[in-house]
Amino acid sequence: RARIFRVAIDGPAASGKSTTAKLLAEKLGFGYIDSGSMYRAITFKCLRMGISPADPKNATEIGKLAAATTITFPTMTSVVLDKKEDISSEIRSSTITSNIGGVASNKKVREALAEMQRGLARGDYPETFEGRKGVTHNGKSIMGMVMDGRDIGTVILPDAELKVFLIADSQIRAQRRYDEMVKRNKLESGETVEKIKAELEQRDHEDRTREVSPLKKASDAVELDTSHLTIQQQVDAIEKLILDRMDQF
Ligand code: CDP
Ligand code: CDP
Repeated sequence: RARIFRVAIDGPAASGKSTTAKLLAEKLGFGYIDSGSMYRAITFKCLRMGISPADPKNATEIGKLAAATTITFPTMTSVVLDKKEDISSEIRSSTITSNIGGVASNKKVREALAEMQRGLARGDYPETFEGRKGVTHNGKSIMGMVMDGRDIGTVILPDAELKVFLIADSQIRAQRRYDEMVKRNKLESGETVEKIKAELEQRDHEDRTREVSPLKKASDAVELDTSHLTIQQQVDAIEKLILDRMDQF
């Protein structure tokens, strides 16, 4: 089986991970996996079954539920639960976001999802690469995978060919999320930039301080502050890093 050039993109909420990862994957013909969508899918399943992720008494049950769940990605942006239900848009709701902490800090959930994520990056699920052509570099055809999240470079793919850690000022991240909601007509009443900023900072704090797989820059990750970059500039900068590293791949 052909080797896969793996790009890990981590960083705090709304730092630009998924936008950048998707554009890179499109430009280079690579596969793309949004690992956050998997934590969202488990949270969605818990809430629908009436299991509160915040209650520590449910931890064992939620761990088992994650291990028995199948999450597939028929296209770069769609997420299917247990091979039958497209939940791509449902998992983006603020209810899911505010309940995700209890799922993300669950050790058994993380173990189950880690196994799926490593399998995806190994090419165990060929559908993830369907229609992807990869790049031709120095006469060699190379397939790749971009995966974004919080622990991809540290825990999931510690030997990824390239690790990037995106950061941006929280005021700027909140403003970007706000603008995105306005643009998509998804602004809920009472939503303000300040409220979004507080929510982002709270979630980052939880992600950074949890015991299992906390959000952290891997020692060998390249840090990129996107506060004053355009999306195009950040995509170009990472593409250059990828192509440079491919010389040794
Ligand atoms: O888009 P946004 O950054 O707001 O969220 P996301 O990437 O969809 O991740 C949502 C939440 O899932 C994060 O705040 C983390 O708690 C959790 N997550 C995680 O723990 N590990 C990952 N590899 C990805 C997401
Ligand atoms: O995946 P993550 O939560 O890290 O962030 P995202 O959803 O990719 O990006 C959050 C918002 O910032 C999106 O609306 C992007 O279009 C926007 N943005 C950016 O990512 N980079 C810039 N240089 C400017 C805006």
